[in-house]
Amino acid sequence: MGRAKKAVLAYSGGVDTSVCIPYLKQEWGVEEVITFAADLGQGDELEPIRRKALDSGASQSIVGDLIEPFITEFAFPAIRANALYEGRYPLSTALARPLIARRLVEIAREVGADAVAHGCTGKGNDQVRFDVAIGALAPDLKVLAPAREWGMSREETIAYGERCGIPSPVSKTSPYSIDLNLLGRSIEAGPLEDPNVEPPEEIYALTVSVAAAPDQPQVVEIGFEHGYPVSIDGVRLDPVSLIRRANALAGAHGFGRLDMIENRVVGIKSREIYETPGLLLLIKAHQELESLTLAADVLRSKRQLEQQWADLVYQGLWFGPLKDAIDGFIERTQSSVNGSVKVKLHKGNATVVGRSSAADSLYVDAMATYDRGDQFDHRAAEGFIYVWGLPTRLWAARHRHR
Ligand code: ARG
Repeated sequence: MGRAKKAVLAYSGGVDTSVCIPYLKQEWGVEEVITFAADLGQGDELEPIRRKALDSGASQSIVGDLIEPFITEFAFPAIRANALYEGRYPLSTALARPLIARRLVEIAREVGADAVAHGCTGKGNDQVRFDVAIGALAPDLKVLAPAREWGMSREETIAYGERCGIPSPVSKTSPYSIDLNLLGRSIEAGPLEDPNVEPPEEIYALTVSVAAAPDQPQVVEIGFEHGYPVSIDGVRLDPVSLIRRANALAGAHGFGRLDMIENRVVGIKSREIYETPGLLLLIKAHQELESLTLAADVLRSKRQLEQQWADLVYQGLWFGPLKDAIDGFIERTQSSVNGSVKVKLHKGNATVVGRSSAADSLYVDAMATYDRGDQFDHRAAEGFIYVWGLPTRLWAARHRHR
């Protein structure tokens, strides 16, 4: 592969990505490491992280606010796609990776780097997402993943860092591996590795327990335009504020926790805990509005494509052709997804209790009603059923006496 001269490293401020800096320079002969730390709404203070990269040997330390594009270009399309990996996980981590990769590539161009680096291990999904995205956006850039090759244990990594002047974590490090952004938290490892152990309450930060949730239910009304959420309880909000508000509302009622066994791209089953209150609430409301405004056959086809969309985003194929093609389908469907959905939040549940669409509802009273206004032609059903059931009757007649 040849040596890289200048690498842009995706940097979080943690031990592993910090150790990547001296490791790349000392072991892999990279002359200059420039770090990039993304603000994705995780709430970390970025100035200490920026300084820590310099203290760890970075020649330049860049921090960048990506919150707005994260929500508008990644989270909102996921809501339109009702994207739930394996029917459950709303991709809070997965959606951030192609955005970080895109920014890494831009920075590499700006500083004239010949490589991009990340601290992912060889067992996870994030390495797949970074490597594939970078390969698609900048095939000429090398991708360096030292943690995939260094074979150091956690203790050895900390010791290596100490030898290079990287302070070991002050407090006793948490046994958990946590990934955090404005869409939610993912919590893995430590005691959670036993899939039969109940997650301790202490791991949660964005949602309260059912026991601690208020006794009073709260109905929230979410407004959509073209499949994008635009308001909560009649108040128009910009995309970032809307996600924050949805997180706060759902989290306060203990809605949005997941405990699942998930199938990673690399073949491993892993036990994952998530809390993604706002995103799950918005997807639920969006699904409901679609059930009112999309035709039955479009809905059925969309449900299948949604699953493929979630799979491919999880699997790191954000910049691939299938994503692009399915997005075309979704875009075409969303022009009529306008209206609002009422969801009752109560004790860990989010229950849809109403939906309406002034211009696009396909629910027609005169068809649905059992009252006087009924305009459905009941007698037409007979002929329809004669034809509809014909193949079944023919087959049954053949097989009845066997
Ligand atoms: N399993 C989740 C995913 O693949 C969460 C990964 C969390 N990433 C991390 N580096 N801790 O999307």
